[in-house]
Amino acid sequence: MTQQQLRIYVPPHPLIQHWLGVARDVATPSVLFRSAITELGRWLTYEATREWLPTQEIMVQSPLAACPATFIDSRIPVAVVPILRAGLGLLEGSAGVLPLASIYHVGLVRNEETLEPVCYLNKLPEKFDPETRVLITEPMLATGGSMMAVMAELTQRGVDSSLTRIVCVVAARMALQKLGTVYPSLTIYTATIDEVVNDQGYIVPGLGDAGDRIFGT
Ligand code: URA
Repeated sequence: MTQQQLRIYVPPHPLIQHWLGVARDVATPSVLFRSAITELGRWLTYEATREWLPTQEIMVQSPLAACPATFIDSRIPVAVVPILRAGLGLLEGSAGVLPLASIYHVGLVRNEETLEPVCYLNKLPEKFDPETRVLITEPMLATGGSMMAVMAELTQRGVDSSLTRIVCVVAARMALQKLGTVYPSLTIYTATIDEVVNDQGYIVPGLGDAGDRIFGT
């Protein structure tokens, strides 16, 4: 049976909570903020790979006897899609956990007047293998506009939303509602959920402009 409701995981892990605290603090300098986002990418991706990465059992010979062993099934493609700019910050940690994944960049910039996302880079392939496990990295799910645009591009190219996982740092209720309505089979891993998105499209309390803080701009 297909999943009927968006699944949102906020893993109660002390490392995730610690790095979220560092990222939220306005006094955190850019170099440490970048490390915090990398660490959040690592641990949230680790959590997100549960019951998602396909495995296969193969017999191996230990020094003492033959025994079955479980390995990642490398025949099934895995893709990471960082949404530029800020998704690059999470990518470093995610790619450490998924070293064999293909990385497809999508660049979106927000039109500051309409707050709508505008695509300036799309490196997605024309068609995905329908078995592909796709992990999207984007630290801030605020209005959900960018993520909806990326999901539309992915599903048009054959991606199965039930095999897709989003890794973010702060998710706002507004984005979760939007995504859940159109893509109920999606699964989201986030360090926290914040309630408010202000008139400028920023999450409150959030952590400010993630891209500017990662890149020191
Ligand atoms: N993008 C950010 O970088 N921060 C927000 O709060 C919302 C969107």
